[in-house]
Amino acid sequence: MSKIVFNKLINIAESVHKNHPLVNDFCEFPDDIQLQDLSPNHIVPSTLLQKETDLFTKKYQIFRDAFIEASPFAHWRETYKDTDIGKDFMERFGCYCLIGPNAPFFSLKMHAFVVYMPPHLFYPWHNHPGEEMYLTIAGEAEFMKVGEENEVLKAGGVSEHKSNQPHAMRTQNRPVMAYVIWRNNFETGPVWTDHLNS
Ligand SMILES: [Fe+2]
Repeated sequence: MSKIVFNKLINIAESVHKNHPLVNDFCEFPDDIQLQDLSPNHIVPSTLLQKETDLFTKKYQIFRDAFIEASPFAHWRETYKDTDIGKDFMERFGCYCLIGPNAPFFSLKMHAFVVYMPPHLFYPWHNHPGEEMYLTIAGEAEFMKVGEENEVLKAGGVSEHKSNQPHAMRTQNRPVMAYVIWRNNFETGPVWTDHLNS
């Protein structure tokens, strides 16, 4: 069952990715994708996403629904578990990997994730060496990055983050779902940008 669901999801991801010029320019969809074994990891945000009814999108309904359909089989990440971020964030911020570690697929060239945030959540300032692009696929959020204007993005909008450029996100009355890709420096995960969060 999970194989069927993930195969469907990766095929949709490939199509969306290749058809978005900015995403495709940032990183070509990898040609070295391999299947790998995956143990699911369930956390509260997975349940929240499966119950979510307000992820509005005209362009990417099939992509959104495929990410939701795969939620019960995914290994949901707990990147910030051992930090002092607190229970509320841990129980509402959702992310799982589609291509990369603890994911159904692996590539040496690109990692890909889905990020889900319900309404009224702040994803504090963080940074990482990997260069990153967010493609908003449903809902909306305000994207913040050091040195640039804040931007509210809806389906189709992208935000690019340079290596170690601190960035943050905020939802207001709407939730958001984004397809997130990294193109290099995969070894080091995100850390809080402490001086911006105090
Ligand atoms: Fe990031």
